[in-house]
Amino acid sequence: MCNVCFWTPIVLDCSLSAIRMIYGGLPESGTSIGAHIMNPEKKKSDKEKVALAYSGGLDTSVAIKWMQDKYDCEVIAITVDVGQPDDLNDAMRRAKEIGASRSYVIDARKEFVEEYIFPALKANALYEGKYPLSTAIARPLIAKKLVEKAVSLGATAVAHGCTAKGNDQVRFEVSFMSLAPELKIYAPTREWGMNRDQEIEYAEKHRLPCPITKKNIYSIDESLWGRAVECGPLDDPWMEPPEDAFKWTVSPMNAPDTPDYVEIEFERGLPVALNGNKMDGLTLIQTLNQMAGKHGVGRIDMIENRLVGIKSREVYECPAAITLINAHMDLESLVMTKDLLHYKRKIEHDYSNLLYNGLWFSPLKESLDAFIEHTQEHVTGTVRVKLFKGQATVVGRKSPYSLYDEKLVTYTGEGDVFDHTSAKGFIYVWGLPSKVASIVKKKKAGGNAG
Ligand code: ARG
Repeated sequence: MCNVCFWTPIVLDCSLSAIRMIYGGLPESGTSIGAHIMNPEKKKSDKEKVALAYSGGLDTSVAIKWMQDKYDCEVIAITVDVGQPDDLNDAMRRAKEIGASRSYVIDARKEFVEEYIFPALKANALYEGKYPLSTAIARPLIAKKLVEKAVSLGATAVAHGCTAKGNDQVRFEVSFMSLAPELKIYAPTREWGMNRDQEIEYAEKHRLPCPITKKNIYSIDESLWGRAVECGPLDDPWMEPPEDAFKWTVSPMNAPDTPDYVEIEFERGLPVALNGNKMDGLTLIQTLNQMAGKHGVGRIDMIENRLVGIKSREVYECPAAITLINAHMDLESLVMTKDLLHYKRKIEHDYSNLLYNGLWFSPLKESLDAFIEHTQEHVTGTVRVKLFKGQATVVGRKSPYSLYDEKLVTYTGEGDVFDHTSAKGFIYVWGLPSKVASIVKKKKAGGNAG
């Protein structure tokens, strides 16, 4: 019953398909209070509305049907486009076929690049020094988009399809809690106790149109920033990843025998052009994924420490991310003073952990962002990268803010401006504490022996 006008739906036990028919054509704001007063045909479902982060994969497909049966709720499927190459319109159609009352695809790629990837790049964010956090930084954005949509549609709960053993459940739920603490959270995959084979059986039994078969041995997650692969043969950490685990990169062995060079132009820490062509961030990352992937750049094979206490083996393909982080770090080395650079590297470590651990929407993240942003003031210039046989090697760099001074560093003598006489006094002062400590230690040792 509607709290505003005390209108009671005529069909109290209406089936979901009926609800779908009724709501199918409603605009996004169709749940506004009293909408049905104006148009009595648009009936309001009494069922709880749950907005599900829908990927189109097995878990979330099963989740639509399972949640409807278990919670007797209305499921709204929301797919957020963060650059995964799947056919998301097809996913949207399938969600409706499975029984979602509505389904949406939200294109968040631009926001992903500007608000998520770029801050991570400025921080050279690499978890455990290797993984560019391609899945980890997409989760808070998916959560944000889901929450926004859920609220606009009058949903009172949100749901995700993550298992109990991964990091993503934490990232989603901590984001939900931070953004909309009033929303209820469902995690059906954690609750239903089915293993993967049982899920496939469930999908088959209920004729759910999802493209997963028992042959799909890998668990894959993709975003513009990279592709993550686990399970199947990768569960054995001793086994070399089979070639069929990779999709974005060629094997370095089969990569071209001649290198490609790419000149990446940065302005205040952000890449703005490739080989002299200015382009928006999305195009730049897509282009670089292709260029570097062609040379087998960005393959990562790692044993990773999950937040939930488990060690896992994961393989990543992040051609653009690895190329850009290499280039960006190198440019920073050219323009930053030693103490700022070294201090920032320590902060990067904390920042990467924070992103990995799902604390995107936290006060600490905001404060670190402010610090990192300030460090980028002079990170402007061009980096020349050689893409060859699996490596993105920086082979040249220049900047109007370069602190590199050839006249100071030169060994050839000509034009040398370094004051050689100062070195002696510097070393005297620099080494003095160690010298004093050593003299005292020796004296003590001598005294004790005697
Ligand atoms: N281990 C990575 C992380 O926690 C990726 C997780 C998703 N991986 C996957 N293959 N489904 O960020």
